[in-house]
Amino acid sequence: MSDILKNDRFLRALRREATDTTPVWVMRQAGRYLPEYRATRARAGNFMGLAQNPEMACEVTLQPLDRFELDAAILFSDILTIPDAMGLGLSFAQGEGPQFAHPVRTKADIERLGVPDMESELRYVMDAVRLIRRELHGRVPLIGFSGSPWTLACYMVEGQGSRDFARLKAMCWSEPSLANQLLDTLARSVSAYLIAQAAAGAQALMVFDTWGGLLGPAPFREFSLRYMAQVVDALKADAASRDLPVILFSKGAGRHLAAMADTGCAGLGVDWTIDLADARGAVKDRVALQGNLDPAILLATPEVIRREVRRVLDSYGNHPGHVFNLGHGITPEVDPEHVKVLVDEVHAYGRQLRG
Ligand code: CP3
Repeated sequence: MSDILKNDRFLRALRREATDTTPVWVMRQAGRYLPEYRATRARAGNFMGLAQNPEMACEVTLQPLDRFELDAAILFSDILTIPDAMGLGLSFAQGEGPQFAHPVRTKADIERLGVPDMESELRYVMDAVRLIRRELHGRVPLIGFSGSPWTLACYMVEGQGSRDFARLKAMCWSEPSLANQLLDTLARSVSAYLIAQAAAGAQALMVFDTWGGLLGPAPFREFSLRYMAQVVDALKADAASRDLPVILFSKGAGRHLAAMADTGCAGLGVDWTIDLADARGAVKDRVALQGNLDPAILLATPEVIRREVRRVLDSYGNHPGHVFNLGHGITPEVDPEHVKVLVDEVHAYGRQLRG
């Protein structure tokens, strides 16, 4: 793509190069805390109507960039588009989270699953990536994303959200080869999905392993990390994605950061349960770190938000390789003005930190 990037702080930080200040973006930055998002979503009818309409998906992707000095855009979509394209029948009941009409429970269910075709069944995602890239005019880089194989499998086997996703965990213990077959199909699908997003114009790729932290140390390596490593390998083997930085984010998996860095990814997302200084101690200079303010702090006063932002920046210290973010997605009740306070403080204090 020929447009020149006007703000490359985010990509430079992922390469652990020096930047004038710390780049920042916010997980779920296009979401219900913004009144303009709620208005577009109302026009679309429901969440999937919005995600499947490239013009509207592009519109909501750009909304937070018009309000805040964010250093990256993230494709507006959802991680559950892959299982939907596999035929599981995704819907979002109002206020209730995702549901699948056809969860995957048996050997026959798993054997029926194939890797979806990216330019037909998931064409709406690739069309959104192409349109957003065009409409960004190089303002900031565009992040493409997917769920991790493990996290997608959690929802596919359970059929909906859950606190413990015990159905998939039970399958891992009672029928490990079946679980591995499902995870392998998902790893191949996730790889194809991210490669297609790269070919469509995504400039960085992030894998959301929201539920990796539910697993103990050995099962985490066997059922979550192993398949993320398979995805990273596949991305490095394809010309479209080879040069794109990959960020892996396993929530609640702070103990596994060193092993995750071994995959060869560029960056690791970090939640708020681990101090960034300790995270850096674990991975040294091998990868960039992205995080890690507790999203609940955005419900506090501007003074507290500024103080806690500085605390996160201080914990990383004056080294290259930090992308500021929350430790998980922003919640609907946050005042948008508080996001402005956060973004502006990251940039102001990040400059000061560099002396
Ligand atoms: O970050 C962004 O701005 C990009 C958009 C994005 C969405 N979902 C939009 C969305 C991203 C990156 C996701 C990822 C996602 N989706 C994850 C992994 C990240 C995480 O938060 O842990 C997961 C587990 C999902 C699955 C999912 N999608 C759930 C559990 C829900 C319902 C939860 C809720 O907040 O209601 C969704 C719906 C969803 N995806 C919304 C948004 C903005 C809210 C739906 C709405 O507008 O009604």
